[in-house]
Amino acid sequence: MNAQNENQSTAATTGSATPAAASSAPATQARKIAVVTGASRGMGRAIAIRLARRGYTVGIHYGSNADAAREALDLVNQAATEAGSGGSGFVFGADLSEQDPGLAFWSAFDTAAAEAGISPLADESTVKIDALVNNAGVFLAGGIAKADTSVLVKNLQVNTIAPYSIVHHGLDRLRDGARIVSTSSGAAKGAAAGSMGYAMSKAAVESFTKSLAAALGERQIRVNAVQPGVTMTDVNKQWFENAPQVKEQMVAHTALGRVGEPDDVAAVVDSLISEDMSWVTGAVIDASGGMGL
Ligand SMILES: NC(=O)c1ccc[n+]([C@@H]2O[C@H](COP(=O)([O-])OP(=O)(O)OC[C@H]3O[C@@H](n4cnc5c(N)ncnc54)[C@H](OP(=O)(O)O)[C@@H]3O)[C@@H](O)[C@H]2O)c1
Repeated sequence: MNAQNENQSTAATTGSATPAAASSAPATQARKIAVVTGASRGMGRAIAIRLARRGYTVGIHYGSNADAAREALDLVNQAATEAGSGGSGFVFGADLSEQDPGLAFWSAFDTAAAEAGISPLADESTVKIDALVNNAGVFLAGGIAKADTSVLVKNLQVNTIAPYSIVHHGLDRLRDGARIVSTSSGAAKGAAAGSMGYAMSKAAVESFTKSLAAALGERQIRVNAVQPGVTMTDVNKQWFENAPQVKEQMVAHTALGRVGEPDDVAAVVDSLISEDMSWVTGAVIDASGGMGL
């Protein structure tokens, strides 16, 4: 089967850019549902676009930037239409810097899904999720002398605790055979003296990935992580504008001779979610173009 339209045979879709139009479509679970956190911008947006192209109905999560999320929704629906995949998107917001954000996250998801005409099957209590991408993240720099524990906690909250909380409160929402992919970072590979809290938060994501893969294997749920290198998103924009030599240094340390684009990483996530990777779980895949080899 064509990988791009892998789910087309089971996809029933709204294919709509607006919740109002979407709600007129039949509520059905035949379609595949994906949730991508931090999908309003950067890599998350690129991942959502890829999954919609593959036929998923994608829950596009954002933190506070509703405009960016609406822009992402338009691109997601456009990509699905162009691919003829039957995919689509809908948007929901939830702040992941709260103490235990999973409950509010799924509550916001439920409200937005219902508005988009997606409701649970008669014999199911919740909308079931086929793919979950824990992508939302923050980068707060600082080494041991400069950064106090509040910096560490802020990194951990969004990057580590939120994915844990979302999965914890979402266990019964994940369909058996679902796929989970989390976004780690090259910073977790080794020493990162200048961004210690961030690196720690991502190292924990990799530990979470392995433990979760072991825990959910009996349900045939595959759990993996990607490890991007420096990728051109809002996180790096100002940094590179202020210090172009930094970008040059990054390129010099990357085997493939450039920094990453969001879709470079999205392609790896998409692949991990696909059937082609059905024998891969508990893996952390480098997606950096060979950075720091
Ligand atoms: N860019 C890189 O070079 C790089 C390298 C390695 C790993 N990573 C990791 O890759 C992932 C994506 O990074 P990116 O560069 O694509 O990020 P980005 O462009 O800065 O986008 C961050 C996303 O996370 C969401 N988010 C941030 N704080 C949030 C909060 N408190 N609550 C809810 N959502 C929140 C944002 O929502 P809003 O739009 O609403 O703010 C946005 O959708 C992150 O986990 C990052 O750590 C990035």
